[in-house]
Amino acid sequence: MQTILIIEDEAKMRRLLELNLGEDGFKTLSAGDAETGLKLLDSEPVHLVLTDLKLPGMNGLEFLHTAKQQNPALPIVVMTAFGSVETAVEAMKAGASDYVLKPFSLAEMRMVVHKELDNSRLREENRSLRQALGEKYSHPNIVAVSSKMQEVLATVERVAPTNSTVLLGGESGVGKDLIARAIHEKSRRASGPFVKINSTAIPENLLESELFGYEKGAFTGATTSKPGKFEMADKGTLFLDEIGDVPPVTQVKLLRVLQEREFERLGGTRTIKVDVRLLAATNRDLRAALEEGTFREDLYYRLNVVPIDIPPLRSHKEDIPGLANLFVARFAKESGRAEIITGISPAAMQLLIAHYWPGNVRELQNVIERACALAQGGELRPSDIQLDSPRNRGGASSDSTTDRFLPDGMTLDQWEDEMIRESLKRAGGNKSQAARLLGLSRNALRYRLSKIGIDDNDGE
Ligand SMILES: Nc1ncnc2c1ncn2[C@@H]1O[C@H](COP(=O)(O)OP(=O)(O)OP(=O)(O)O)[C@@H](O)[C@H]1O
Ligand SMILES: [Mg+2]
Repeated sequence: MQTILIIEDEAKMRRLLELNLGEDGFKTLSAGDAETGLKLLDSEPVHLVLTDLKLPGMNGLEFLHTAKQQNPALPIVVMTAFGSVETAVEAMKAGASDYVLKPFSLAEMRMVVHKELDNSRLREENRSLRQALGEKYSHPNIVAVSSKMQEVLATVERVAPTNSTVLLGGESGVGKDLIARAIHEKSRRASGPFVKINSTAIPENLLESELFGYEKGAFTGATTSKPGKFEMADKGTLFLDEIGDVPPVTQVKLLRVLQEREFERLGGTRTIKVDVRLLAATNRDLRAALEEGTFREDLYYRLNVVPIDIPPLRSHKEDIPGLANLFVARFAKESGRAEIITGISPAAMQLLIAHYWPGNVRELQNVIERACALAQGGELRPSDIQLDSPRNRGGASSDSTTDRFLPDGMTLDQWEDEMIRESLKRAGGNKSQAARLLGLSRNALRYRLSKIGIDDNDGE
């Protein structure tokens, strides 16, 4: 039996929660304040905490910090009054698993509790599974030799069977689409539809009708009614690509669908309920967009239930040979030259490994495609590899250690980012020391860190 600790100062509310969670077969422990809650945590194993944020004495946030320090894996769901979303956001930043806004329906509260317990059980199962398998994950069509990509696949494995919303981040061409599909294929919805919508590919005024559909006469030109992508994805997965570019009005509507799983078609009055699992992707730093106010915080936290950040290719170069060979086999076959093109020569492979790959896996794929189309036959040679850097055309390999210029394909901004990361590494994460290494003030470093999306919240 699983134990849930309820921390709520209102006796009536507390009783209601006890009753409902008891009905669902949980053992409940209750506390009227955070101090008692912490004592109960010490006294017996607890699987999840449901806590109010506004409490007498120690408040919910302080409780969250303390409890998380003692047990980082403990799922904590916070309850907060509608209209104080900011505190919910703060709680999420402090490590809360999810939040419910008061007044909430008991059904919603139960759903969140079950989801969080499922997630934490899966995490645990996954951990032991991984140990048993020697930490090896595989997926057809996905090259993942490096530990960074293994980590990505491990998360895919873990979240796929749940209904959690996943936010895929990473530069252009790193494989966000590929991973989104993998999540769908490994989920219980695999036999259902996988529907993708790219908000930058659709004019702003059409995005809503694409998402939610419309009824006949909803606007000029709506001569028939049409279902939207949400309806098309029923019992399946909806993949919202480039979520960072969704305009604010549409963000509000998305939030509602995420919260209530229902919506109306444009110009329609009938409320439509759908069973859709949402995946979203962005190649922009959404947190920067939050600060600029162009992306809603509440929507961000709804989407970012499970974040998966796919690393840029330059940070997991161990995968380059596997990827290059996969693409050679694919394109040689596609162009009917499978018999003629036999592989990649060691020198050509060296060239591929040394490149900076600003366009990530997609760029590598394009380079190999071009090489396969132009190669004479046999193994691909350095002269078949045309990298997007004038100095590398024709395959003359450059020796980057004696080269006093930017590495191939790298921009000055990217070079700066690399140096900043390197300084942090050398300073063992100490930002004041990193700033000194770079000859920057603490403030100047803070600014640059925020630009590349590294959090600067510890004030050491
Ligand atoms: N690990 C991998 N193994 C095999 N192929 C990969 C891998 N990563 C990416 N690819 C391939 O690289 C190409 C680009 O990947 P994808 O379209 O998923 O990138 P993306 O992150 O969605 O890019 P964008 O931000 O431009 O939408 C695809 O053809 C994909 O199949
Ligand atoms: Mg994509």
